[in-house]
Amino acid sequence: MKQQASVMGATENLVPDTRHGVILYMENVSVSFDGFKALNDLNLYINDGELRCLIGANGAGKTTLMDVITGKTRPDQGKVNFGQQIDLLKLNEAEIAQAGIGRKFQKPTVFEALSVYENLYLSLKMDKGIWCSLWHKLNGEQKDDIERILATIGLTEQRHGLAGNLSHGQKQWLEIGMLLAAKPRVLLVDEPVAGMTLQETERTAELLTSLAGEHSVVVVEHDMSFVRSIARTVTVLHQGSVLAEGTMAQIQSHPDVKRVYLGEEST
Ligand SMILES: Nc1ncnc2c1ncn2[C@@H]1O[C@H](COP(=O)(O)OP(=O)(O)OP(=O)(O)O)[C@@H](O)[C@H]1O
Ligand SMILES: [Mg+2]
Repeated sequence: MKQQASVMGATENLVPDTRHGVILYMENVSVSFDGFKALNDLNLYINDGELRCLIGANGAGKTTLMDVITGKTRPDQGKVNFGQQIDLLKLNEAEIAQAGIGRKFQKPTVFEALSVYENLYLSLKMDKGIWCSLWHKLNGEQKDDIERILATIGLTEQRHGLAGNLSHGQKQWLEIGMLLAAKPRVLLVDEPVAGMTLQETERTAELLTSLAGEHSVVVVEHDMSFVRSIARTVTVLHQGSVLAEGTMAQIQSHPDVKRVYLGEEST
C-alpha cells in the first residue's frame, strides 16, 4: 500500500522553481499538423500568480498552446518548462496535472447525477490517488477545503442540489471548483464564458480575478468585453506566434494588431 502510494505520488513533490518570477516558460515551440504550423516558434512566459488573457482569431493556436502545456500534444521543437527546472516535455498528461497544472475544457464535465458537494468530494479524493481514496472519510482540513471552494465558486447554497440542475454557468464554476480541489499552481481556462448569460459572465470575471495571486491563471477568450474586464496583460496570438503583448490599451493601439484585426490597410 505504501509503495503504491509513493508510485502514484511520484510527481507530487515536483515544486516549480519560480524564483525568477516565471511559472511557465515556452521557448521556440513549434507544432505542425501535416505540415501546417499550428504553433510557430512561439515564445511565451507566464508570471507566477498573474492572470493572463490569450486572444487571437480562430485557428491562431490558442487551444494547441494549452494542449502543449498539458502534454496532450507534443511539440516538434522547443522548450516547455514549469518553473525554471521542471521539463514538462518529459512528463505525461497525468503527471503534469499532478504537478499542479489544471485545465478547464470548454464543456463542463461535472457528474450530473451527484450533488455539488459530492462532485467536490470526489475530486478532492481522486487527487490523492485512487489507492488511498474512497474508503477514507474526509479529514477536517479537507472539509474546510470544500467549504472554501464552495464559497469561492459561489455555490454554498446549492451544495446539496444535483449538479445536473445547475445552470450552465454554475456548472462551469463547479468544474473550476473541482480543479481547485487539486490545489493547482496554474489554471488553464479555454473560453470560460461561452454560452453564459451576462450576469454569469460578470461573476466568472470576479471568480477568475480572485483566483489570480494564489494561482497563475491563463484564460483564452473571444469575448472582448470580458477580456477587457479582467485583463492586466493580454497576449495576442496570430498564426501560431505571439504577435503582441501588453495591456489592453497597448494591444488596441498596436500597429500589428490593428493590421491583422482591422484589415490589411498597409497592403
Ligand atoms: N489535431 C489536429 N490535427 C490537425 N490540425 C489541427 C489539430 N488541432 C488543431 N489543428 C489546426 O491547428 C490550428 C490551430 O488550432 P487551435 O485549435 O489551436 O486554434 P484556436 O486558436 O484555439 O482557435 P479557436 O479560437 O477557433 O478555438 C487550426 O488551423 C486547426 O485546424
Ligand atoms: Mg480553441
